[in-house]
Amino acid sequence: MISITKSQFVKSLKDKDTVQSPFLIKFSAVATGKNGKAYMNLVLMDSSGEIEARLWDDVAQHAGQAVRDAFVMVDGRVQSYQGRLQLVISKMQVLREDQVQVEEYLPKSHLNADVLHRELLGYVESMKDPYYKALAEAVLRDDADIVQRMKRAPAAKTMHHAYPVGLLEHVVSITKVLDFLASHYESSLNRDLLFLGGFFHDIAKIWELSYERVTDYTMEGKLVGHIVMGVELVDRKIRELESQPGRLPGLFPEEKKLLVKHLILAHHGKMEYGSPVLPQCLEALVVHYIDDLDSKMNAIGKFMEADQNPGPWTLLNRHYERFFYKGEPRSVSETL
Ligand SMILES: [Fe+2]
Ligand SMILES: [Fe+2]
Repeated sequence: MISITKSQFVKSLKDKDTVQSPFLIKFSAVATGKNGKAYMNLVLMDSSGEIEARLWDDVAQHAGQAVRDAFVMVDGRVQSYQGRLQLVISKMQVLREDQVQVEEYLPKSHLNADVLHRELLGYVESMKDPYYKALAEAVLRDDADIVQRMKRAPAAKTMHHAYPVGLLEHVVSITKVLDFLASHYESSLNRDLLFLGGFFHDIAKIWELSYERVTDYTMEGKLVGHIVMGVELVDRKIRELESQPGRLPGLFPEEKKLLVKHLILAHHGKMEYGSPVLPQCLEALVVHYIDDLDSKMNAIGKFMEADQNPGPWTLLNRHYERFFYKGEPRSVSETL
């Protein structure tokens, strides 16, 4: 079976382009227009990006087949709608998986997972507390399944670092900042505990999300969530370490165990954001703020990068309810 080679990619599409190309369906729903007629609302993707699409005819026939994770051959035309490009589909046909080269449809990561993982292990190596260090090693170095998943997982479905290896990028970025803050506030912060907060706060996203195709929540992710799953992991790993002679200097101290769990549980900062407890020690407070900062830097940065609005201002960002200023392109020397 000869697979279909993709020649048109989302990134190169322009207003009024005629399209005949396969895509992966990221989102698919049937909606009702103002005239009462049903239409399909889709988001199509490939390795270069994603585009909204509409299908106005034969909706009933397509609705059951053109679902999320399906590959489809699309004929249509690009049009600009409220400042955004949209693909109006005239013909759509579902493809079998052996007709496509899957990697042409999944977002590529510009990141090198092995390099990031080595960098992370460097921070683990620099830890002093034998209990905290053994716990970090057991999870990030010795658990082959976790390491393999961490080298692929995104950090979120849509919000931030939502691409392969995004979780590892997020964790390494946070750890660098935490390392700086640990020396800046040397007398008030425990560097090793801080690191565990950075390493583990989102680690259960490797099981909360599925990322073989379009990123989505798993059953366990929906019903339990990464905060509680992270605490379960810490419990399990400490029990394993305690059962392996020579891995720890003694039983894992109860207070240390509770503090690690607290950093995971409190990292969303507020109960309405999913944390069952508020940050109640300085390390928990710092991990929460730096996690929030790092995710926003990525989310807003990517939004500004992808924005198509001409001029210095972006289109409205609905999530943050504001326009962002892109400014004129500046080189580093001009800003000095
Ligand atoms: Fe989180
Ligand atoms: Fe995070």
